[in-house]
Amino acid sequence: MHCVKKITSDMYWVGGSDRRLALFENVYPIPRGISYNAYLVLDEQTVLFDTVDKAVSEVFFENLAHLLGGRKLDYLVINHMEPDHAATLAELVLRYPEVKIVTSAKALQMIKNYFTFDVDGRVCTVKESDTLTTGRHTFAFVMAPMVHWPEVMVSYDTVDKVLYSADAFGTFGALDGNIFADEVNFQADYLAEARRYYANIVGKYGTQVQSLLKKAAALDIQMLCPLHGPVWRKDVAWFVEKYQMWSTYTPEENGVMIAYASVYGHTENLANIIAGKLADAGVRGVKMYDVSVTHPSYIVSEAFRVSHIVFASPPTMRASS
Ligand SMILES: [Fe+2]
Ligand SMILES: [Fe+2]
Repeated sequence: MHCVKKITSDMYWVGGSDRRLALFENVYPIPRGISYNAYLVLDEQTVLFDTVDKAVSEVFFENLAHLLGGRKLDYLVINHMEPDHAATLAELVLRYPEVKIVTSAKALQMIKNYFTFDVDGRVCTVKESDTLTTGRHTFAFVMAPMVHWPEVMVSYDTVDKVLYSADAFGTFGALDGNIFADEVNFQADYLAEARRYYANIVGKYGTQVQSLLKKAAALDIQMLCPLHGPVWRKDVAWFVEKYQMWSTYTPEENGVMIAYASVYGHTENLANIIAGKLADAGVRGVKMYDVSVTHPSYIVSEAFRVSHIVFASPPTMRASS
C-alpha cells in the first residue's frame, strides 16, 4: 500500500523507512532506524530524484505507481550511486523502460560497474551548471565530489528553490509520519543522530563539504531535501550552520568528553577523578564514555560536538593468563 507525502504543489516524497536494520552499512548502529528518501516531481515531464535501498523497494514502487497514475517516468536524476539509494535502479528501468537517466560522468561509470542493463542508450551525463527543464521546473546540477563519494552531485530547482542535497544534510532515524524538520523536535530527537551520521559518514571530507557549502551559499535555498531524514523548509540556515561548524572541525559547544577503557576499574577511577575535578573547576557538560560498551560511532560524533577531549586507557592491555 502506498505511503507518499506531499512536499510542494507538485513534488512528493516517495521513500520509505527501515526500522529493522540493526547496523547501517553493517557498521553503524541505528536504534531508531533510517529513512531512504526519494522525491518525485510531476511536471509536464515527470522526474524522480534518486531511488531507495532494497529494504524499502516494495513501498517505493507502490508510491511511484500510485503518483504516476499511468503516466510514464521521463527522468531519473541520480545524485548518488551508493546502493542505499541505487539498489533498485535495475528494477526501476525494467518497470519504466522509457526513463532517461541524468547523472554525472563518474556515476555513469559506476552504473556500468554495478548493473548490466543498457545504460548508454538512456543516459544523459551532466556537468557543473548544466540544466534540465521539465516544464515549469528547471533544475541545475552542482557537482559535489567526495560528499561523500566521488560521483556525487546535488540538484537545485531554480523555480521552487529546492536543493536535492544527496547525503548532505541527512540523518539517521526513521521518519515517523512527520516528514518536515519543523514538525518534529529536531534538536531533541534528531540532532545527535544527524551529527553521528555526519561525523561518521562524511566527517573526514570537511574540505569537500566546505566546497559544496560555498556553492550552496550562492543559491537561494528555501528547502533542503536530503536522502535520509526530515525535509527542511524552515530554519534552513540553522542546519547549514551546523554543517559549517562540523566541516571546519569547529566545536559546537564548550564541553569535555572523557573516553576511557578500564580493565579492573582503576582507569575508570582516574577518569571519574578527572571528571570531578573538572566539575569542581566550574566546567559544565562533562560526558564520560566507557569505550568498551560504547560503539565508536558515538565517540567520533561527540568529538565533533565538544571543545575538549580526554582519552584514558590502561598502560598495557593484553590477554591475562
Ligand atoms: Fe552515501
Ligand atoms: Fe545514503
